[in-house]
Amino acid sequence: MDLEFKLKGTFRTSADPADAKETIEQLFEEAGETILTKGAPAGQGAQIRSWNLKENGVEVEIVSGRYVRAHDAIIRLRKPLAGKLGKEFHIGVRGVDVDHFTISVPAEQSVGNLKIPHVSSMEFKDGAITLELDVGESELENRVPDRILTLMEDKINEKLYGGKTEHWNLLWESEKKEPKFTQDPTPEMVKQGWIKRGASRGQWIHGPQSTKLFRTFEKIVYDELLEPLGYKEMIFPKLIPWEVWQKSGHAKGVYPEIYYVCPPKTRDPKFWEEVSDHYKVTHEVPVELIKSKIGDPIGGMCYAQCPPFWMFLQGETIPTTEFPITVFDRSGTSHRYESGGIHGMERVDEFHRIEIVWLGPKDDVLDCARELHERYMHIFNDILDLEWRKAWVTPWFMAQEGLTGISEQGETGTTDYEASLPYRGEDGEWLEFQNVSVNGTKYPSGFNVKCQSGEELWSGCSGVGLERWTSAFLAQKGLDPENWPDEFIKRFGELPEGIRFL
Ligand code: SER
Ligand code: ZN
Repeated sequence: MDLEFKLKGTFRTSADPADAKETIEQLFEEAGETILTKGAPAGQGAQIRSWNLKENGVEVEIVSGRYVRAHDAIIRLRKPLAGKLGKEFHIGVRGVDVDHFTISVPAEQSVGNLKIPHVSSMEFKDGAITLELDVGESELENRVPDRILTLMEDKINEKLYGGKTEHWNLLWESEKKEPKFTQDPTPEMVKQGWIKRGASRGQWIHGPQSTKLFRTFEKIVYDELLEPLGYKEMIFPKLIPWEVWQKSGHAKGVYPEIYYVCPPKTRDPKFWEEVSDHYKVTHEVPVELIKSKIGDPIGGMCYAQCPPFWMFLQGETIPTTEFPITVFDRSGTSHRYESGGIHGMERVDEFHRIEIVWLGPKDDVLDCARELHERYMHIFNDILDLEWRKAWVTPWFMAQEGLTGISEQGETGTTDYEASLPYRGEDGEWLEFQNVSVNGTKYPSGFNVKCQSGEELWSGCSGVGLERWTSAFLAQKGLDPENWPDEFIKRFGELPEGIRFL
């Protein structure tokens, strides 16, 4: 069974259209050859199955496949019909009522009973899922049926191929390195007093030792990469409202991992007095009471780091001479509600990252990515002396929307940098410690950024995860600076003393 849209609808008229019967017949016949097939491969346009005049309307039944979908067809008919009825019969077309609308999507199995807006029922039968839609004219115009179809096709694919067809394709691999250390570095860092668990889930407090490691990594990235390549520092916001995630695509799928942010309903101290008093008397924070006094979530804490930057460019046209624009942010933490269980420093709910962003015409963007890859290669080979590899993976912007696979355009996508973790053994999973991505037109178009010349704008980003660098470096080299590469020690200097306890 093929994809099928079936729509029964009525053009509401201001008077009985009986006299216009022949005109309507002629219009619908013509439409079958013109507006209902325009843009579709031969024989694959929409068809008017039947039509019929009512006292105050013209009822039509339209059937279509993927091209000129039934809901587009009915919208396309509205204007010419109104034109004819108006001019020749002084009858107005008041609007379109949708009497019945179904979409049948081929599927090998049911996807379960899902709650989808504007879908009133869903049935799996004879190799297809048939959805009954509850929509009106404005939903037809706003392409709601198309989005429902896309959503269903995604769900069907997910069911068919399983959620986890993460793409992974090896691009480059360093030589094997003899590890200087074979333990999991996190417990070792705890033991040596470098770090302690923070009070919140998946959070660490870094003592002077690991903080100096972070800062040295930042300095290396700055001196060897950002500065020579001309990247300029900016400060991106860290509280992300829904608007940003709507434009970046995160609103499609990031919900299970967000740390949500709710503002107080008011900042009037009187309104909050009860909460303070409760605490003062019981020494318990009255969470339920607080819940009643805070507003709806306005968004969440920084997740991907680059999306809020785009509000700076939103709606702007940028002079051609400005490209490539190359910036970075290291002004704060990112937060993800990670899977449960005990993890070390390599998987945290709160982490630190330098986020590097560039944009320009396509060739500039591809050049920037190439330069970054070269500089990273130098850092990991000549300074950190890591065992690492690069892989072409599902783009982060797709993964964060809950999608799998690779990006459709061959040049856009994400390269993950992965390091071996000797403590996990020969066949153990490697650690993704940073990425470089060419994001294509996604961000400039999502945030409506234009180039003066009219040329298409592309962008890219690269996230340098400091916890991840630390995990990779310490897992391979250990905590004793005696075993650290000279080029690194040159930049790091001496390991600071930590804070001692009795
Ligand atoms: N924004 C990208 C990500 O979240 C790079 O840091 O992976
Ligand atoms: Zn990014």
